[in-house]
Amino acid sequence: MPKVMVSEHPLVKHKLAILRNKDTDPVKFRQLVHEIAMMLAYEATADLPLRSTTIQTPMGEANGERLQDEIGLVPILRAGLGMVEGVWEMLPVAEVWHIGIYRDEKTLRPVEYYNRLPPTPRVQICLILDPMLATGGSAIATVDVIKRWGVRRIKFVGMIGAPEGVAALSAAHPDVDIHLAAIDERLNEIGFIMPGLGDAGDRQFGTAHS
Ligand code: PRP
Repeated sequence: MPKVMVSEHPLVKHKLAILRNKDTDPVKFRQLVHEIAMMLAYEATADLPLRSTTIQTPMGEANGERLQDEIGLVPILRAGLGMVEGVWEMLPVAEVWHIGIYRDEKTLRPVEYYNRLPPTPRVQICLILDPMLATGGSAIATVDVIKRWGVRRIKFVGMIGAPEGVAALSAAHPDVDIHLAAIDERLNEIGFIMPGLGDAGDRQFGTAHS
C-alpha cells in the first residue's frame, strides 16, 4: 500500500491556515503555494536513493553522497504550476514536464489537453505536483500517463486532499506515495474539497471571477 504522509511541520500548518483564508489575495496565495511546496518537497524527497562518491575538497579527499537518480517534476496545469518554483528551490536541476488536465464540471472526470512528453524519459523518479486532490481523477490520470511513459517511481505532492481522492489514488496506484499538508473532511456535491480553500487555480491566477 502507498504511504500517505501529512506534514506535521508547524510552518506548513501555519502557512496552510493563511492559504485557506478567503481574504488571502492572489499575490500572497502564490507566495504561500511556493513556500509550502518547497517544504513538502523537502519531506517528500527524504528517502531518495543515494550513490557514494569521492570529492576533492581544497584540503584533500572526502567521501560523499550524490542523488542516484534524475528527477522530473510533473505539474498538473493549471494549479500545479505554482508549486514548481518552490520545489525547484530544493531540486534546481529537476526537469519539468507539464501535463494539462482539467475536470469536466458536470462529470468531474479528468480531460487531458496537453502532453508533450518525449518518447523516452531521461528521469527515473517523478514528483506529480497539484495543490488539490479532490476525486483523485486528475492525479490517477497523470500517474497513468507517466507510467505509460516508462517511469515507475512516482510520488504525488499536493496541499489538500479529500479522503475520497486519497482513497481513489491509493487504490488505483498503490505504489505511489502521497505527500500532503492536510486531509480535509469530504468532497461536496460539486466535487470541491470541504473546507478546502476554494479553487486553487483561480486563486493563484486571479481568475476567480471568470
Ligand atoms: C483542479 C485541481 C486539480 C483537480 C483536482 O483543477 O487543481 O487538478 O481539479 O480534482 P480531482 O482530484 O477531482 O481530479 P481544475 O480542473 O479546476 O483545473 P485548473 O487547475 O486548470 O483550474
